[in-house]
Amino acid sequence: MTLSAWNICRNGSINLRIVAIFWFIFCAACSFDTTIDDSPNTVHYYQFSLPGLKSIFAELKRQFQEKHPDIYIHIHTLPTNTDDQHQFYLTHLQSRKSAQMDVFAIDVIWMAEFVRAGLLLPVTDLYSKSEWESFFSPILKTTLFDNRRYAVPIFVDGGLLYSRMDLLRKYGFPSPPKTWEELVSIADTILKGENEDRLYGFVWQGRQYEGLICNFIEFLPANKEWLVASNRTLQVNRSAVVPTLTFIRSLLSHKSVSPMSVLGMSEEESRHVFQNGQSVFMRNWPYAWKLAQQTGSPIRGKVQVSPLPSWNSLEPGRGALGGFLLGINKDTPNPEPARQWVRFLTSEEVQIQIWEQLGLTPARKTVFSKIQGDMGMEMGVLMEVMENTTPRPLNPLYIPISQSMQAYISGALSGIYTLEEAMDRMDNDLRRITRILSYEN
Ligand code: GLC
Repeated sequence: MTLSAWNICRNGSINLRIVAIFWFIFCAACSFDTTIDDSPNTVHYYQFSLPGLKSIFAELKRQFQEKHPDIYIHIHTLPTNTDDQHQFYLTHLQSRKSAQMDVFAIDVIWMAEFVRAGLLLPVTDLYSKSEWESFFSPILKTTLFDNRRYAVPIFVDGGLLYSRMDLLRKYGFPSPPKTWEELVSIADTILKGENEDRLYGFVWQGRQYEGLICNFIEFLPANKEWLVASNRTLQVNRSAVVPTLTFIRSLLSHKSVSPMSVLGMSEEESRHVFQNGQSVFMRNWPYAWKLAQQTGSPIRGKVQVSPLPSWNSLEPGRGALGGFLLGINKDTPNPEPARQWVRFLTSEEVQIQIWEQLGLTPARKTVFSKIQGDMGMEMGVLMEVMENTTPRPLNPLYIPISQSMQAYISGALSGIYTLEEAMDRMDNDLRRITRILSYEN
């Protein structure tokens, strides 16, 4: 499959797509270094953005250049939203003639597509077998295709529950909920007791974008797949998806545990609401902990982080597997300097710094014995969360599949579609996508 085939089957009108593409090119151009130095030892590195990221990476670049004075690094920052980053790579890598891109941060869900499109240089020999095994196994699996490794994890993500323990304790709940039913009943009790218009029960990421898929799979009952393969095509597993969407709708409707505005929230919007003290619970990635605890945060010292709830109090819920990997452009004119930069950024010493300063969870489990455990949860529990995440399908067609599911999940939650209509539309799209792009499994 080529990236252009990917583009053909995306949703949305042509006009919207054109506007979006120009917008991303514009945004990306704004964040480019103005002086592009294309000397042989220059590495152009592209990555996501997060609060505080720029200054920390400027320091990492300084440390790297102290060790490698002959290599020059340009850091380019892309928008925060993973869908926007994907769109940027799509536009630039497809032409292969645009700005030099040597190393880029890849969301775990793009790997199959990028490898299949021949964009990445294999990096199997960057580390020994035992060093590869120092990474968490779910994220490590996303780097392997046909026995070759194509990228190195820089950090790992897994969905977590954030609870306002001051409020929970006030109403006699000593610990975070273990099941979804418990979360609803605790939120209900606190909302009634506080009787405060601006306090919500549970905020999460319900906007129509990739984060919605992560949230959605975390609501599914354990071991239930949302997509199943049948006759060389994919189908929605209605017996798991319908009750899950019904539950999510109940959070938004009669119980009003989650405000309708969650349908417009991504990670940062929900974090702002929670950090402002306006929600009892929040689902988010680990990065939100450091920010909740920073000086001046209204919820500093009041939050506990725990594994997500499940449908069975005996087993913790499983967060979606997220995180980013560093890949090297197959067409880079400078493979050796690029390899050095990737080795440096994925080294234990840098993983510790990224954890301490940005709160991004180290992708290497071996680092956990060397870091201080302040996460509002035991570090051992955080390790278990990261070892037991649920991956999204590692499939070159994942992006069109996800885009289509996002639209119908969002439509079903906001009431544009009945559940039945949403299911039928999902199945139609899945048939179309897997037929056009000849799904092979
Ligand atoms: C985080 C995760 C990434 C996921 C995205 C969804 O950035 O690391 O894997 O796709 O959130 O919003």
